[in-house]
Amino acid sequence: MRLAMIGTGYVGLVSGACFAEFGHDVVCVDIDPGKIEKLKKGVIPIYEPDLDDLVTRNHAAGRLNFTQDLKAGIADCDCVFICVGTPPRPEDGHADLKYVYQAAKDIAGAMGRYTVIVDKSTVPVGTAREVDAIVKAENPAAEWDVVSNPEFLREGAAIEDFMEPDRVVIGADSERARSVMRQLYAPLSDKGVPILMTGRESAEVIKYATNAFLATKVTFINEMADLCEKVGGNVEDVARGLGLDDRIGPRFLRAGPGYGGSCFPKDTMALVKTAEMVGSPTWIVDAVVKKNDARKRQMAHRVGEICGGSVKGKTIAVLGLTFKPDTDDMRESPSIDIVDELQSNGATVRAYDPEGTDQAKAVIKGAEFCSSAMDALTGADAAVLVTEWAEFEDLDFDVVKSVMKAANFVDLRNVFSPANMQAAGFNYLSIGRPA
Ligand code: UGA
Repeated sequence: MRLAMIGTGYVGLVSGACFAEFGHDVVCVDIDPGKIEKLKKGVIPIYEPDLDDLVTRNHAAGRLNFTQDLKAGIADCDCVFICVGTPPRPEDGHADLKYVYQAAKDIAGAMGRYTVIVDKSTVPVGTAREVDAIVKAENPAAEWDVVSNPEFLREGAAIEDFMEPDRVVIGADSERARSVMRQLYAPLSDKGVPILMTGRESAEVIKYATNAFLATKVTFINEMADLCEKVGGNVEDVARGLGLDDRIGPRFLRAGPGYGGSCFPKDTMALVKTAEMVGSPTWIVDAVVKKNDARKRQMAHRVGEICGGSVKGKTIAVLGLTFKPDTDDMRESPSIDIVDELQSNGATVRAYDPEGTDQAKAVIKGAEFCSSAMDALTGADAAVLVTEWAEFEDLDFDVVKSVMKAANFVDLRNVFSPANMQAAGFNYLSIGRPA
C-alpha cells in the first residue's frame, strides 16, 4: 500500500518507519526543510532506541522516503496520516488543533483518488468529524473517508509498542475505510493482535480514557505510598498485592515523583476540559491532575527533611532529569518543579542526566550541569534520584560516600534497597517504604 505521514515528529516518524518495515511504501512529509534533509541523510531528530536503524534500513530499501512537497507526497496514496502536533493552548489548556485543520485542508487539495485520511495525532472527541467537514468544504468532489486510529506508543519503547501492541483501535464509519485499514494492519492481525473496530468518537474517547486511566493508576499508587509512609506499610508489597488481582494488573503501579511527559499531563488536562465543555465533568481525572501537579514540588521537601529540615545553603546532586529513562524528553518532567523548589529554598543544584542535558538546559535555569553522576555527587550535601536511568543502579556507594560531603540520599524511584543503603552508611529516604 502507499502511505503518507503528515508531520515527522515522534508519532509520524515512528509510525512511518514501522509501516515501511511491514512492507508498505511510505513517504514522510514535513514543512521543515532542515528536518527533511537530515532524515534523508539518516540523522534522526529524536532519541528513540533502534529508530535510527529502522529508518536507515527502510530508506535504503526504498520503502521510506522524505519530502517537503505535500502535494507530490500524497497524490496516489491509499492512506494519509495526520501526525502533526496538538499542543495545549496557553490561554485555556484545550488542545490546539490549528495544525490538524491545516493538514486537513492541504490533504483535501492534493488527494488524487479514494483516500483514507487517518487521525493519528491525539485529538479531542469530534475532531474526525471536523476534519471530514473541512475536506468536504475544500474538495466536495473528491472521494475520501476520515478514520480515527489513535497511537499507544511509549517513548523509549515505541517500536516494540508499534510492532507488538496489545490492540489496534480503528474508529471508522464506512466499510470501505474499514477494509483499507484491515489491509494496512494485516501484518499485525496475522500475528493475532486484536484489531478493534469502533465508531470514530469511541476511538477518540479510547485514546484519552487509556492515558487518563494509566495516569490515575500512577496517582493512586502514589497516594497509597503516602499512606504507607504514615502507617508503616511498604508500597511495593501493596503494589504486588494489588497487581496480582487480575482485574487490576501489575503495570503502572510503580510509585514515584509523579507522572510527566508530553502525553499524560496534556491528555488528562484536555479530557478534563472537553468533559467540562460538554457538561459531563470528570471529577476523578480532575483530582488526578491536581494531585499530580502538587506532588512534584512536594518531592523537594524530602530533600529538606534529609538535610535536617532545610536545604538552605546546601549543595544538592540531582540524578536524572528527563521525565523517564531512555528518552531525552524534558516535557513536564518532575525534575523541573523539584529543582525549582530546591533553588527557591536556597539550595545549589548540581544536575546530571545521561541523555537529556541539552533539553534540560532550556527549561532548568541556574543549575550546574555535570558530565557524570560522580561529578554531580562530588561535594554534595545530599543526592536526589529523580529518573531511574539504568546506569544509576551501578553506582559504587563506597565511592559515592567518599566524594559526597554528607551521606544523604533521597531515592524517588525506589531503585535501591533501604537495607543496603543503610549498610553502606547512608541516611536514605525513598517512596512509601519503611526507612
Ligand atoms: C504514554 C502512554 O504510556 C502511551 O501508551 C501513549 O501512547 C503515550 O503516553 C501517548 O499518548 O503518546 P509516555 O508518555 O511515553 O507514554 O510515558 P509512560 O511510559 O506511559 O510514562 C508516563 C509517566 O508516568 C512517566 O513520568 C513515568 O515515570 C510515570 N510512571 C509510569 C510512573 O510514575 N509509574 C509507573 O508505574 C508508570
